[in-house]
Amino acid sequence: MITAPVSQTGYTLGTIQAVTIQPSSNHAGCCLWFTGLSGAGKSTIANVVVEQLVERRWKVELLDGDEIREHLSKGLTFSKQDRDINVRRIGWVAKVLARNGVVSITAAISPYRALRDELRGEIDNFVEIHVATPFEVCEDRDVKGLYAKARAGEIPNFTGLDDPYEAPLNPELRIETDGRTPEESAAEVLAWLDANIAVS
Ligand code: ADX
Repeated sequence: MITAPVSQTGYTLGTIQAVTIQPSSNHAGCCLWFTGLSGAGKSTIANVVVEQLVERRWKVELLDGDEIREHLSKGLTFSKQDRDINVRRIGWVAKVLARNGVVSITAAISPYRALRDELRGEIDNFVEIHVATPFEVCEDRDVKGLYAKARAGEIPNFTGLDDPYEAPLNPELRIETDGRTPEESAAEVLAWLDANIAVS
């Protein structure tokens, strides 16, 4: 059971997307690290988790992959080198938040296992959540039309197509999204939190 320091008080840090300003429950900080292909449902599920945690008055901050690339990582490409820089930046912010009692939630593809493992070693209470939507399903959904563009050769180094995605071997949670609603998937994350994060 992960427990919070006794002296925790509610506050918000100025980061990408502040969602909690209410006085909060006293819970431990942690990092919910969503990983999965583009269009797997990471952001959608993460957003539902955020809504539910805000309702509970938990301190929570969402670091979404697309948002981070608009702000903190603007200008970075999708080369391995730039993806690593991007993911390390997200990891650094998530770490600072988690050690200050926030549930930091990240939703970047973060395709490389070694880098996720590196962050696991650095971030307090790192919870790896694999949104394991198969490539074919993501391509079928093609929410942003990017798979079609990648197939047409307009987007090089597209994850799962001509760039690797290394699935976690031992994640805390593996979520199947096919045939399930985002609310059902989010419920699995909340159940994990209920079982593992102490609240006072
Ligand atoms: S990561 O690899 O560095 O973790 P990140 O999550 O920030 O990726 O960005 C992924 C998002 O960028 C995708 O959801 C998609 O919208 C967009 N994107 C643009 N080009 C690519 C690409 N070559 N591979 C994957 N996603 C891409």
